[in-house]
Amino acid sequence: MRVLSVGSEIYPLVKTGGLADVMGALPAALAVEGVAMRALVPGYPAVLAAMTGAEVALSVADLFGGPARILAADPGAEPGGLPLFALDAPHLFARPGNPYLAPNGMDWPDNAQRFAALCRAGVLVAQGAIGGFVPDVVHAHDWQAGLVPAYLHYDERAAPPCVMTVHNLAYQGQFPADLLGALGLPAAAYAIDGVEYYGSIGFLKAGLQFADAITTVSPHYAVEIATPGGGMGLDGLVRARAGVMHGILNGLDTSAWNPATDAALAVPFDARSVAARATNKAALQARMGLDQRPGALLFGVVSRLAGQKGIDLILEILPLLAALDAQLAVLGSGEAAIERDVRAAMGRWPGRVAGVIGFEERLSHLIQGGADAILVPSRFEPCGLTQLAAQRYGAIPVVSLVGGLVDTVIDANPVALGAAVATGVQFGPVTADGLAAGVRRTADLFANPPVWRRMQRNGMALDVSWAQPAKQYARLYRALALN
Ligand code: ADP
Ligand code: GLC
Repeated sequence: MRVLSVGSEIYPLVKTGGLADVMGALPAALAVEGVAMRALVPGYPAVLAAMTGAEVALSVADLFGGPARILAADPGAEPGGLPLFALDAPHLFARPGNPYLAPNGMDWPDNAQRFAALCRAGVLVAQGAIGGFVPDVVHAHDWQAGLVPAYLHYDERAAPPCVMTVHNLAYQGQFPADLLGALGLPAAAYAIDGVEYYGSIGFLKAGLQFADAITTVSPHYAVEIATPGGGMGLDGLVRARAGVMHGILNGLDTSAWNPATDAALAVPFDARSVAARATNKAALQARMGLDQRPGALLFGVVSRLAGQKGIDLILEILPLLAALDAQLAVLGSGEAAIERDVRAAMGRWPGRVAGVIGFEERLSHLIQGGADAILVPSRFEPCGLTQLAAQRYGAIPVVSLVGGLVDTVIDANPVALGAAVATGVQFGPVTADGLAAGVRRTADLFANPPVWRRMQRNGMALDVSWAQPAKQYARLYRALALN
């Protein structure tokens, strides 16, 4: 069974969030299930730099305004590496930095063409243009790959079935209607049962419309996006397609995230040596300029700084953190206004609130291995990966009751505490008051070391790996390929 996975980011080569983690982890996870997956990603400079020894698998004279090639290689350290196709199209992707944004912070003006090109390339591979890899199923991720099912639908040639995964319904890829012809879509596609979406062209809408199966990255998010409150304008279509919708929880790459071998930690540890986290906590306090106080409850945050993530709620309750004598360490990057607010809070609470504005893989690991608790007050969260890493690293996740955060944390309610199965704290509503209540409850638990230690061990014992999700994807691919 061969599967082509199409998406715009892949860890460790290009990452702005969890999509990259999932794209990067799926091939190895599915190999265990007998599925040979290859990922097709844009040939950004960082991707091409890793494609040493690549072969040209396909050349296209003109792809949206310039020549393009699909390169094949297996970069990466593990045996077998990361089986990759890169779309080398310099006129679209030879741009360093953020994959979506120009240096002025705005979307690249030709993003429609850039990601339509990615989809076109995916369709070529799907239709068998690369003899050595003819997929049985195509798996498209998020809006950037949303036109894959649409192109396949409007094309006469035979093609394999297509799975569309929604990692985040908030990013929909909407572009002006007059691009229809330029994107190579027929006039008939501009219709409510086509790619039309509130007067424009919707890439994600198109994907949801035409995919043979739709998955989203947690069961609870699958329920939320079928409601007007959670559907972000697409809930009607999501409901119409309920028969092909599946919620499959994300896993965590447990070799990249392994506290027993993690070189980014001051000291590695496992469930038997959780006490060693104290050394990591001290290292984290030193690294981030927090007061060296072993007993202070240290909250960590590792996050894109976007409205979705509720960072503003954390900044609102800083007086409570001070009253509890707690500390806060934030690692994040994203929207300028939130970055500014985090910096301002650091200035106001020196030694108590620390922040690093930027994207630092290693520091994200030290926060997971050194902070006592990880705050995830998201307004919505399709799955979320940082609460999975927290549990694996013995940090207590404090999460809002939305999306995948509902599915992946066992709240320290009286029943769970009685049964000694709790792994974290869940709170609702997603307001500053709701978060404050969750934080107070966390402080109470922290003040009870035997209970806290038990929760840490419970979290560390969870299976947050890709083992189960990979089985679910493999089953879905096989069911589709049989039809
Ligand atoms: P999302 O995809 O919405 O950003 P996830 O929780 O699914 O949220 O995934 C976020 C991923 O990005 C995690 O692997 C997290 O550790 C990582 N991450 C987010 N912000 C940063 C940062 N500033 N530095 C390093 N890693 C980050
Ligand atoms: C998105 C979501 C996040 C999810 C990730 C990977 O970026 O915001 O919740 O974990 O994709 O699926």
